[in-house]
Amino acid sequence: MDKIRVRGGRRLSGVLQVSGAKNAVLPAMAAALLTPEPVILENSPQVRDVATMIRVLQRMGAAPARRDGARLELSVPAITSAEAPYDLVKTMRASVLVLGPLLARCGAARVSLPGGCAIGERPVNLHIEALRRLGARIEVEHGYIVAEGPRLTGAEIAFESKTVTGTENLMMAATRARGRTVLRNVAQEPEIEDLAELLTKMGARIEGAGSDTIVVDGVEALHGAEHTVIPDRIEAGTFIMAAAITRGDVRVERCRPEHLAAVLEKLRSVGVRMEVGQGTVQVMPDGPLSPGNLVTLPFPGFPTDLQAQYLAMATQAQGNSLITESIFENRFMHVGELRRMGARVDIDGHFAVVHGPTPLTGAQVMATDLRASACLIVAGLVAEGETVIDRAYHIDRGYERIEEKLQKVGADIERIH
Ligand code: EPU
Repeated sequence: MDKIRVRGGRRLSGVLQVSGAKNAVLPAMAAALLTPEPVILENSPQVRDVATMIRVLQRMGAAPARRDGARLELSVPAITSAEAPYDLVKTMRASVLVLGPLLARCGAARVSLPGGCAIGERPVNLHIEALRRLGARIEVEHGYIVAEGPRLTGAEIAFESKTVTGTENLMMAATRARGRTVLRNVAQEPEIEDLAELLTKMGARIEGAGSDTIVVDGVEALHGAEHTVIPDRIEAGTFIMAAAITRGDVRVERCRPEHLAAVLEKLRSVGVRMEVGQGTVQVMPDGPLSPGNLVTLPFPGFPTDLQAQYLAMATQAQGNSLITESIFENRFMHVGELRRMGARVDIDGHFAVVHGPTPLTGAQVMATDLRASACLIVAGLVAEGETVIDRAYHIDRGYERIEEKLQKVGADIERIH
């Protein structure tokens, strides 16, 4: 198993380029199940979750995916098996995104129920209940979601709470349902708008993506399309915080600052000096970081996927910061590892109090999930001495060659095989 070694103390300087968004490309790939024609995705990141999704699609009858750098071509001439098996779903929960498209295309799906994971229980009850409202018959049997619905019928559905992949699953299922589907209280993440844009290019009729109500008018069939995936706002935010914690001078390129509004506002309020340009954020060295409380929220709030990285940064602030994780019930697993590096953090349920400033010292630590590993890299960049992060495969799920990108801006970081 690969590890990542970081030696702290260097100020980052230079240019970092953001890859395509993992959480946008995964639903876009699932959308390829909706049509026998090819779906071409430009700006798709070369990360492990994308490779896993290719395997999921191939089990269902997809032709071998064709990749040329960031261009990914998928085609599913026919669904040969409408099953997403446990061995794949357990490695990537986002596999559940095939449920909606499979039902829409072939009226049946058998998808392993994802279990809990390192950040919480993460049930999919909202996906199931909403698909039932479209007329699907769904049972959970032997650990599988078994769904049937030869032709779904549009309905008015109000989600009890916001769910990103739940919204995406329903939007995809509704594209080929009979009549109109109105989805209320939906998630508003940019990745949902991006999926709606792709589906529209494929012939779907969708209004309102990005707002809290989405209206889908079902069509008979969808066709192939070509689409450029949006930049990864979480990778961009991680780079900005990596630059800020080292008091570095870094330009983050190929991002969408408008997708980062809450993040940029929070970082400015704790003393990170930044200039926003067309698709760029320039981080400039400035005085010490000040403490700042944070609450994670659905978009347009501060994303839970950047909470761990912010927490690492808060260890260097001149005072205490209160961090409230409101999306997932168990997303402070990185704190135990940060404590091994000297961080002083108290946790009580959804709350963490980070005592700053605390000098960090390099240590052997273990990545527990994707964003926790990003947090440990950010911390390692300012820790004195060497930090070795075990289980680097977590970071490879969602960051494209992160050590190579950070090396280019002067970080002392490498992969150990
Ligand atoms: N929830 C339910 N029932 C459901 C669905 C969700 O109770 O049926 C709860 C969840 O347990 C959680 C909250 O609702 O407490 C929000 O979960 P959501 O469904 O929005 O999360 P998700 O769709 O499973 C996506 C991202 C996550 C990101 C969250 C929140 C993808 C593939 N994954 O997950 O990304 O943290 O939204 O923004 O889009 C990551 O990239 O590291 C990652 C975990």
